[in-house]
Amino acid sequence: MPHYGDYQNAIYFAGLSGVVPKVPVDFATLAARATAAMPASVRDYVQGGCGDEYTQDHNAAAFRHWGMVPRMMVDCATRDLSIDLFGLRLPSPIFMAPIGVTGLMTPDGHGDLAAARAAAETRVPLVASTLSNDPLEDVAEAMGDTPGFFQLYTPKDRDLAASLVSRAEAAGYKGIVVTLDTWVTGWRPRDLNTGNFPQLRGHVLANYFSDPVFRRLLQTPPEQDPAAAVRSWAATFGKVLTWDDMPWLRSLTKLPLILKGICHPDDARRAIDTGADAIYCSNHGGRQANGGIAAIDMLPGVVAAAGRTPVLFDSGIRSGSDVVKALALGAAAVGVGRPYSYGLALDGAAGAAHVLRCILAEADLLMAVNGYPDLAAVRAAGASRTA
Ligand SMILES: Cc1cc2nc3c(=O)[nH]c(=O)nc-3n(C[C@H](O)[C@H](O)[C@H](O)COP(=O)(O)O)c2cc1C
Repeated sequence: MPHYGDYQNAIYFAGLSGVVPKVPVDFATLAARATAAMPASVRDYVQGGCGDEYTQDHNAAAFRHWGMVPRMMVDCATRDLSIDLFGLRLPSPIFMAPIGVTGLMTPDGHGDLAAARAAAETRVPLVASTLSNDPLEDVAEAMGDTPGFFQLYTPKDRDLAASLVSRAEAAGYKGIVVTLDTWVTGWRPRDLNTGNFPQLRGHVLANYFSDPVFRRLLQTPPEQDPAAAVRSWAATFGKVLTWDDMPWLRSLTKLPLILKGICHPDDARRAIDTGADAIYCSNHGGRQANGGIAAIDMLPGVVAAAGRTPVLFDSGIRSGSDVVKALALGAAAVGVGRPYSYGLALDGAAGAAHVLRCILAEADLLMAVNGYPDLAAVRAAGASRTA
């Protein structure tokens, strides 16, 4: 069983020789350093959110009004953070959320491979986005033995959707995450002010350009006429999904089907009734709608509605204590988003792995101090609203 908290000892012992972490351990310093390191167009795309970014900010701030009560005199010398998800035994309860410009997060343009290598190093699964600078097969290979999941932006062309899913199956992904909230892009002032939308500039479209079905939609291969290929991409991206599409979505794969973007208990119930294997409660980090309610505040209602069906969660996770709070509120697994991007921006795969290790170390040490030897104890303790 990994002792994630030992990462702190490694840092302190290195400090005896004057070595300090290359990438910061706290989110505020990490974000500040990454802000300075990223090209402006990437920075604005990654950091920006919808509208005045109230929801985005509130996602993270809302963790402060949830708290946990410590228990004493419990043997917590070792902690078990492992989970069972879709028959997989995973050593920790976190995963890397899909981030569509991961490819641009490293100067070589292969940030997706770097994220996959961070997954291989840490055994933290990566949910690989449809929007990628490297084909999903190459990303899967770079994950090594760590299981990965494929996130589908459902194109209007049904054959293309089927092709992407079957490629993901063939490449060994362990589940398909269908994102429901992004058939159209939310209003993002930071990107609008600079007229910057990476996909229209031909970035992160490798899964489309390498796809036989997508290529058949083109008159000229993308290598010869990239601008026309981008226009075809824009024409097919983003099918409006409704519940009537569930039988079709379900028919695409035997892999676990996970619906991302569910925040209402009724939607959770309907997703399960129509064949979803898991619910993914997320408001896309406040990038899509500036609706005001923090994702963590919607999690308990979704968990209650989902019953025994696992609920994955992201939006606003900045630290290990945020992870433990989300687990205490019933999440089966917790997605880290922007923090690992910043790790990639500062030190590639090693930077992302460091960020994940810091989050896991903080979670593990919080469990140690609070008297929670395993995640069952975290869930039994629960979290209460403090304000
Ligand atoms: C730059 C960026 C790109 C994203 N791209 C995708 C994507 O391709 N697919 C997807 O389902 N979600 C995408 N998301 C949403 C994340 O999966 C996740 O829901 C979000 O990052 C959580 O918010 P947080 O990072 O503030 O914690 C993206 C988020 C960011 C910041």
